[in-house]
Amino acid sequence: MPTERNPEFFAGKNIRIGIIGCGYVGLPLALRFADTGHRVTGFDTDPKKVENLNAGRSYIQHIPAEKIAEHVKGGRLDATTDFTQIRNMDAVLICVPTPLDERREPDLSYVEQTALSISPNLQRTQLIVLESTTYPGTTEELVLPILERSGLKCPITRGPESENVATDFFLAFSPEREDPGNKQFGLAQIPKVVGGTNPPSRRAAAALYAQVVSRVVPVSSTRAAEMVKLLENIFRCVNIALVNELKLLGQRMDIDMWEVIDSAATKPFGFMPFYPGPGLGGHCIPVDPYYLSWKAREFDFATRFIELAGEINTSMPYHVVDSVAAALNEQKKSLKGSKILLLGVAYKKDVDDLRESPSLKLLELLTARGAKLDYNDPYFPALHKMRHYDFSSMRSVELTPASLGSYDCVLIATDHTAYDYDMIVSSSKIVIDTRNATRKVTKQREKIVMC
Ligand SMILES: NC(=O)c1ccc[n+]([C@@H]2O[C@H](COP(=O)([O-])OP(=O)(O)OC[C@H]3O[C@@H](n4cnc5c(N)ncnc54)[C@H](O)[C@@H]3O)[C@@H](O)[C@H]2O)c1
Repeated sequence: MPTERNPEFFAGKNIRIGIIGCGYVGLPLALRFADTGHRVTGFDTDPKKVENLNAGRSYIQHIPAEKIAEHVKGGRLDATTDFTQIRNMDAVLICVPTPLDERREPDLSYVEQTALSISPNLQRTQLIVLESTTYPGTTEELVLPILERSGLKCPITRGPESENVATDFFLAFSPEREDPGNKQFGLAQIPKVVGGTNPPSRRAAAALYAQVVSRVVPVSSTRAAEMVKLLENIFRCVNIALVNELKLLGQRMDIDMWEVIDSAATKPFGFMPFYPGPGLGGHCIPVDPYYLSWKAREFDFATRFIELAGEINTSMPYHVVDSVAAALNEQKKSLKGSKILLLGVAYKKDVDDLRESPSLKLLELLTARGAKLDYNDPYFPALHKMRHYDFSSMRSVELTPASLGSYDCVLIATDHTAYDYDMIVSSSKIVIDTRNATRKVTKQREKIVMC
């Protein structure tokens, strides 16, 4: 590895790229760099993932195994659990998890562990980029000091006067904006925001990403880049809470909020539609805002929008349970002892991702109230043990007119496209619809309870 190298080096071809964390974010990124001819090594602590990658197998539903196999065969992709190989990389991109701990506070242990793995292997002029979603300050306050234990330095500087400041290695933050499974916007089409610890670091990261995305958006610091990602997700979280609250009001006023939202969305400017649902799901929107509210406390600042949105979104599964109880009551049945079929356990339609899914909360709450629950989900033939839930004995039941008719109530929690909603409504006794999934059903609408 050369001892002197300028940021423009990273605009070149045949850069050796290490991706740390080969999950939903890291694997597509690895494949994108391999697509453009770079040599990529995936680093992961999970030996099964490493074994699968080296054997050309996929473990993520929307990523085809052939694509992995093609790059492995062509010598553009391999994977390892041996972190000493980091020293052979030109650039290292960090895509490890950033969850919340039991107290709903940021758990940066994966990022910290990764920085500790890089530090003894860090080389002069290497580029290190953190991609994991986190609060502003993580790159400079947590990652940088650990990397500098190597003896190499990367000064924090801003402004034109430090455009060519001397730096031993390059350090940047670039948030991952991937929406797994989104067919309209893949990695290549989504602009990449890049902030550096110093201007050469920003230029190095921008030069690298310019090869794989349509547009790079440089910002003045790693802190700004970290905040960009949080703003995007807090924007979603707050707007979802807003429509959830208005939906509850709409129910009292006998106004269909889905009709209202779709009509408002015809305004060609100044409005963006968000839709109500049974609660927040996924690994980002229910988690990321709390990274900022936690950090804000250090500055004696209360992030009230985040707290209020959290309160409203968290209450939604409880509202669904009350609606199910009320609908059964209309049938002279109690929730206790009733047989309920929940449709869709994935956190959103057409994905094989359960993380933070409100369906899991619904299963828990309804079971606790004495209902007898089954579920169907084409993406989950069985449920496995998770951090907060254990539904490992549950198996997806077959969806037939006879099976639907055997339940006191059918609850649509996730609006998978594969479902035949006409059949679901015509065969069920009552249907609680949390997603407006039955909007096109014209017959027997009296059985549907919008929730
Ligand atoms: N999934 C998304 O849609 C998405 C979108 C944008 C941003 N993000 C953010 O990207 C980051 C990664 O998310 P993800 O969904 O890819 O997570 P993931 O759980 O799918 O993958 C993370 C991978 O990191 C590995 N890992 C954990 N600790 C490690 C370590 N010390 N060294 C090496 N590997 C390690 C795990 O084994 C796993 O394979 C998170 O910060 C997340 O918030 C995710």
